[in-house]
Amino acid sequence: MKFSYVNHTQIHFGQGQIQAIAQAIPADSKVLVIYGGGSIKRNGVYDQVAEALKEHQWTEFSGVEPNPTKETMDKAVALIKEQDLDFILAVGGGSVIDGSKFAAAAAKYEGDSWDIMTGVHQVAEAVPLGVVLTLPATGSESNPAAVVTKAATHDKLPFFADAVQPKFAVLDPDVMKTLPERQLVNGIVDAWVHICEQYLTSPAGAMVQDGYAEALLKNLRVLGGKFDQRDNDEWRANLMWTANQALNGLIGAGVSQDWATHMIGHELTALYGVDHARSLAIVQPSLLRNQMNFKQAKLEQLGRNVFGLSGDDVAEQTIVEMELFYHSLQVATQLTEHQTDKASAIDAIIDQLESHGMVELGENQAITLKESREILEMAVAD
Ligand code: NZQ
Ligand code: ZN
Repeated sequence: MKFSYVNHTQIHFGQGQIQAIAQAIPADSKVLVIYGGGSIKRNGVYDQVAEALKEHQWTEFSGVEPNPTKETMDKAVALIKEQDLDFILAVGGGSVIDGSKFAAAAAKYEGDSWDIMTGVHQVAEAVPLGVVLTLPATGSESNPAAVVTKAATHDKLPFFADAVQPKFAVLDPDVMKTLPERQLVNGIVDAWVHICEQYLTSPAGAMVQDGYAEALLKNLRVLGGKFDQRDNDEWRANLMWTANQALNGLIGAGVSQDWATHMIGHELTALYGVDHARSLAIVQPSLLRNQMNFKQAKLEQLGRNVFGLSGDDVAEQTIVEMELFYHSLQVATQLTEHQTDKASAIDAIIDQLESHGMVELGENQAITLKESREILEMAVAD
């Protein structure tokens, strides 16, 4: 175990905390409030933000779509440059936050913003950014990652830069009251897979990371099991905090990480518009079976400590339990959204993986295009 760890995002957690942005954003800032398709206008979050910012100078940019695009965010970048704005407040879910991170970095760069995603431009500088989270799922509110799509070419790629990690994040569980069931389920599944991506690798004897990961997985299992009781302050607060902790860097510090499910899942979203979390549930069980040689020991540990399994064949049983968990939330574990035959869909996904350089995925770089194809043979429905 060897690592350097800091998470410098200040969290303001709890009911009524949106007002904390009044102090969290420097008083002399020229603020750009970025949001999505308007859910915040309908649920009172926009009004709370406007009230908190009444002493600040601010303007707004709306219309960030789920799976934010370079094409949309370039318009926000133009506004930031034109009006010399120097603080971004992202109010939304992972898409708004990621799009805001991209804009924050692109506003400090003179070239084509897509250079950030291809690595041509290494981000060292960005407009400072704060977050009001409205959908617990991605952990983007307190991490340095962002995933952005180029609509023109269906490219969905991640980038990572310390400069775009939010300065603060407001996590007020009350904002979840207007979330559609589908998005609440997505939050449970995305957070679940984030933990797995950092846990289901090879045993490293990392007791803190493993133990905390298992505690978070147990939380999600309990919250999923009590989905019918979701209209409840305690349920909301626990999901919001669990999803945040799942991807804030702690459980991944000093241990190997996988992320192959995410990279293959991103292609399903880019090609077929599958919700991010749902793309993961489609890929993950097949990927775990394909990579059983590497993952058996940690699958057994998860099965024993999270699902209470024992006896023979615990690793395979653990994957079955995970499928049952997804199915209990009405989340499918096979792709049915491809509007073509199975073979053509698999070819299209493989082509995209190849063009994005996703040819050696996973903690052992053992998922080449050959393994990805095997995984998709299981994960894509006829
Ligand atoms: O746009 P609005 O009108 O706000 O509606 C959104 C959107 O339609 C709606 N919504 C959000 N908060 C709401 C609400 N509706 C009612 N009440 C509220 N309080 O929910 C819809 C989905 O929002 P979105 O932000 O797209 O969802 P999510 O948070 O799941 O984010 C998904 C994006 O994050 C990326 C994904 O790839 C995807 O692009 N990820 C980012 C990560 C990161 N930065 O660390 C890691 C993740 O693995 C993931 O890849
Ligand atoms: Zn995710």
